[in-house]
Amino acid sequence: MHISFLATLGYLLSVTSAQSIFTPARPPSLPLAVKSPYLSTWFPAGSDGGNGGYLPGQWPRFYTGQVLGWTGLVRVDNETFTWMGAPKGIPLANQKSYEYTSSKSIFTIEANKKVSLKVTFLSPLTPKDLKRQSLTFSYMNVEVLSLDGAEHSVQIYTDISAEWVSGDVDVTAQWDFGLMNDVVYHKLSRQNQQKFSEFNDRAEWGNFYYATTAQNGVTYQSGADDDVRGAFVTDGKLPSSNDTNFRAINDRWPVFGYGISLGSVGASPVSTLFSLGLCQDEAIQFLGADGLAILPSLWKSYFADDLAALTFFHKDYPESSKLSSDLDDRISKDSIAAAGQDYAILTTLAARQAFAATQLVGTGDKHYLFLKEISSNGNTQTVDVIYPASPIFFYTNPDLIKLLLDPHFENQESGHYPNKWATHDLGKHYPNATGHPTGDDEPMPLEECSNNIIMVLAYVQRSGDTDYIKQHYTILRQWAEYLVEDSLFPAEQLSTDDFAGHLANQTNLALKGIIAIEAMSQLSSLINKASNAQNYTKIAHDYITKWQTLGLNTADDPPHAVLNYGNTSTWGLLYNLYNDKLLNTNLVPQSVYNIQSGFYPTVKENYGVPLDTRNRYYTKSDWELFCAAIASEKTRDMFINDLARWVNETPTSRPFTDLYQTSDGSFPPGLEFKARPAVGGLFSLLLLEQGKSGRL
Ligand SMILES: *[C@@H]1O[C@H](CO)[C@@H](O)[C@H](O)[C@H]1NC(C)=O
Ligand SMILES: *[C@@H]1O[C@H](CO)[C@@H](O)[C@H](O)[C@H]1NC(C)=O
Ligand SMILES: *[C@@H]1O[C@H](CO)[C@@H](O)[C@H](O)[C@H]1NC(C)=O
Ligand SMILES: *[C@@H]1O[C@H](CO)[C@@H](O)[C@H](O)[C@H]1NC(C)=O
Ligand SMILES: *[C@@H]1O[C@H](CO)[C@@H](O)[C@H](O)[C@H]1NC(C)=O
Ligand SMILES: *[C@@H]1O[C@H](CO)[C@@H](O)[C@H](O)[C@H]1NC(C)=O
Repeated sequence: MHISFLATLGYLLSVTSAQSIFTPARPPSLPLAVKSPYLSTWFPAGSDGGNGGYLPGQWPRFYTGQVLGWTGLVRVDNETFTWMGAPKGIPLANQKSYEYTSSKSIFTIEANKKVSLKVTFLSPLTPKDLKRQSLTFSYMNVEVLSLDGAEHSVQIYTDISAEWVSGDVDVTAQWDFGLMNDVVYHKLSRQNQQKFSEFNDRAEWGNFYYATTAQNGVTYQSGADDDVRGAFVTDGKLPSSNDTNFRAINDRWPVFGYGISLGSVGASPVSTLFSLGLCQDEAIQFLGADGLAILPSLWKSYFADDLAALTFFHKDYPESSKLSSDLDDRISKDSIAAAGQDYAILTTLAARQAFAATQLVGTGDKHYLFLKEISSNGNTQTVDVIYPASPIFFYTNPDLIKLLLDPHFENQESGHYPNKWATHDLGKHYPNATGHPTGDDEPMPLEECSNNIIMVLAYVQRSGDTDYIKQHYTILRQWAEYLVEDSLFPAEQLSTDDFAGHLANQTNLALKGIIAIEAMSQLSSLINKASNAQNYTKIAHDYITKWQTLGLNTADDPPHAVLNYGNTSTWGLLYNLYNDKLLNTNLVPQSVYNIQSGFYPTVKENYGVPLDTRNRYYTKSDWELFCAAIASEKTRDMFINDLARWVNETPTSRPFTDLYQTSDGSFPPGLEFKARPAVGGLFSLLLLEQGKSGRL
């Protein structure tokens, strides 16, 4: 359904370059194996570091830009061509098209005008199926057929290099090869395991696997890159031998290859499936109710060991692919219905990236979803990153929000955080959620207290789980009290946009706090605390009346909200207004929405509306889409069309940034945000539409 739909409509809207067609758009970086903070492999496309998006001729990279050797070759009637990567001296096959869905990247590549390959990278998305979602593996399916009516003798080759096991190419890798349950696998790891440690954002512990189905025609080899690839070019197969000389990643670059004979290939397609991923028994260090604990990966609760998980995953392709396609179709159809094809360009690109910043950990009884604040600073479980990402989680499975908030409640309710406001994060660096027992986190008191209260109400509205309020009422009230003190006249502090600096009396931040006070009233109501409910709603209504006088400049033509009170010429994206619609708090009059809808088009630049008057040159795409979701149709479409155009045209080549210059679409100097889960916020409009259709 989805494919045929894209084939008819999508192609009309696609971007055509010299050779390849990109559908529905040409992303800055194409997702290949994108499943968790440590399995995040991309293909740079944008002109600033990428090759336009052609799989043959350039190496895949980790989101940081570090090369991950991953090769694809095809041998047709004794002649060999490269379809992925940049191995030396092997001519390139010709890419015809690239298409992405929420879970898949699909390349069509021709070799010598004789055969066509359809290479599908599937990073499964199963938000309601935690067993499958917990597995940090990804698929690559290679389908080959003859193009010219003749039969051709075809062998395919693929390898990964030892670069996958560490961010430091000087360290020693070790490896093994095996067979289990009709699946053959290369296993590779860093020899000196460094549990819970990173090097350049890469995991320095765990085992990587590269597997395929054990069948006739499969050969394998480990060894130096040129030797292994050379053997395939010469013979069309590998000697099925092991290099037992464990050595540094950069010492005659060991690679782990398969050569697979497909025999004689005609018009009916022949396919081969590969599975690739990372197994870590222990995933997170967490300071929770029981003190400091080590949390296993959640898949450990379903599978005895790495190989049980790997072989299940490999054989699960039909079911996993179906579940992912169902979600692909839903996201695509809902997005097009909500705001058209340009909106689907955004949501579809954001889905994998948002989920891939997360990891399911713990046990069947007690599990959590942990999130890495990728690229901005690596913090664990940052509240003001969970919050912008939350629309995709609410839309796909609201229980995931509970799994993200639970560790926060557990840590702060067991006395591990001394401040009266909510903490910013649970650890300075992923995968350590060791908290801030001395209260030394980056302080964003108003921001985080509000975010927590807003997300709890949005969760309860969708789940009906009022027990959740009862369990956490004491600390929710503690945070609400802080909001009562600080929301109307916010002290000089940071908002989530910390790169923009401290400021007192921020109009947008005050609005978030005031809506959160009203949300606290509703939470109180839901558990029959009527007098608290009345008190909070009275305060919120009083504040919002005053806020309209303090925060709006209605004398200007056109009128607009100001960035900070009394600073009449300033303005900014009033994205926290979204919460009033999300929660149905109906606190803010329609006139405020109308004012902002009328204003944004008057300050827009080439690729969008700048974040605020402090920094006219950049904006945040998540916040633009929060504003779009509650704007008039015309203003909404302006935001969406500009951002979709940015996706096609940006020179950036790192995974979908949420921070870019509105003039030329590049990164702001020194601020290279990439692969962040905040792009989950692009689901803002889908979430509101879901609310309207009663599908909560
Ligand atoms: C491929 O090479 C083999 C062995 O050298 C040879 O027998 C065969 O005829 C060649 N096939 C083609 C299509 O050139
Ligand atoms: C996590 O904490 C451990 C000590 O328990 C430390 O060795 C490791 O480097 C930390 N990881 C990161 C990414 O900071
Ligand atoms: C390669 O290593 C694997 C695992 O140790 C072993 O099963 C296999 O027989 C070895 N292959 C050769 C050709 O020695
Ligand atoms: C915030 O605004 C109010 C009202 O304009 C003003 O009295 C107060 O001094 C401002 N606060 C700060 C910290 O500037
Ligand atoms: C209402 O809330 C304020 C501020 O949190 C508090 O000081 C006051 O005691 C509350 N009143 C009642 C009746 O609960
Ligand atoms: C008004 O805003 C501008 C920039 O947005 C800032 O530089 C200036 O300090 C602000 N003035 C006051 C009084 O807050």
